[in-house]
Amino acid sequence: MAKIFLTRAIPEQALQLLIDAFGENEVEVYPHDQIIPRDELEKAVHGREAVLCMLTDPWDAKMFDAAGASLKVLANCAVGYNNIQVDAASERNVTVTNTPDVLTEATADLAWTLIMGASRRSGEAERYLRAGKWGSWSPNFMLGNEIYGKTLGIYGMGRIGRATARRALGFNMKVIYHSRTQRSAEEEGSLNASYVSFDELLEQSDVLSIHSPLLPETTGLFGAEEFSKMKDTAVLVNTSRGPVVQEAALAQALKNGDIGFAGIDVFEKEPEIHPELLDCENALLLPHIGSATLETRTAMAYLAVENIIAVLNGKTPPTPVN
Ligand code: DGY
Repeated sequence: MAKIFLTRAIPEQALQLLIDAFGENEVEVYPHDQIIPRDELEKAVHGREAVLCMLTDPWDAKMFDAAGASLKVLANCAVGYNNIQVDAASERNVTVTNTPDVLTEATADLAWTLIMGASRRSGEAERYLRAGKWGSWSPNFMLGNEIYGKTLGIYGMGRIGRATARRALGFNMKVIYHSRTQRSAEEEGSLNASYVSFDELLEQSDVLSIHSPLLPETTGLFGAEEFSKMKDTAVLVNTSRGPVVQEAALAQALKNGDIGFAGIDVFEKEPEIHPELLDCENALLLPHIGSATLETRTAMAYLAVENIIAVLNGKTPPTPVN
């Protein structure tokens, strides 16, 4: 049995790096282009030394037990690792790694795709055009929100939050943020950003972009009460993790006019989408493609592979989590 198992195919060059390091017989890739079912995953990981997994693979204590004492490293091909119970890994001396930094710019670009697309109703407008409904140019047709010079609120000023804020400089936006830690005065100055309370963030943002990890304290954080504090023209954007936003409450807020628009790339129970959200013309919905560029997905795979190579060679991996 190969000592390394990949739960899904990764870009060819990154796979080759792994094969070059350990030989073809030591690398096995799940052969189907789908999420490996849990029962199959439990069997497939047994006896491996390294597993390269996806954010869609659940790694709880039972899964680590299924892998057994041979497992040395679990390399998540994602920056977010809420799919992994890290303390269960640490208790079993398994190193967990993720892929930070390499996807920062691609994800910030996608946040901006959603900021612009949701504000200017591009999904709705395109659906309208393709349905053959467009009659003529009209002064009152498909009016959206202007972005230039408005206030961008960032929830979670980590790497991706900062990259999203940096792009706002080109739109002459005022940036406000709320985060676990306040950034240095120098960093705030370079981003033209000011730290505000969570309520001030809700009340003052024209666009509110979420960039926090999924933690117990962020699960379900954005619900009916929060939406009622936001401007009725506000645009909510989420490229972090779906469960940070209560989807049913978001659909209701979009329908009631508590907020104006939403741009959403991540969902509570992917790939399911709350049916009422699907009904909202004022929501621009994308299928979790924040990091989906050829360059970034290749870089993520390389980093995951480099983490495995380091641990199996007894070295410190480039991006450990525990
Ligand atoms: C991540 O890496 O956490 C992203 O959600 C993948 O696009």
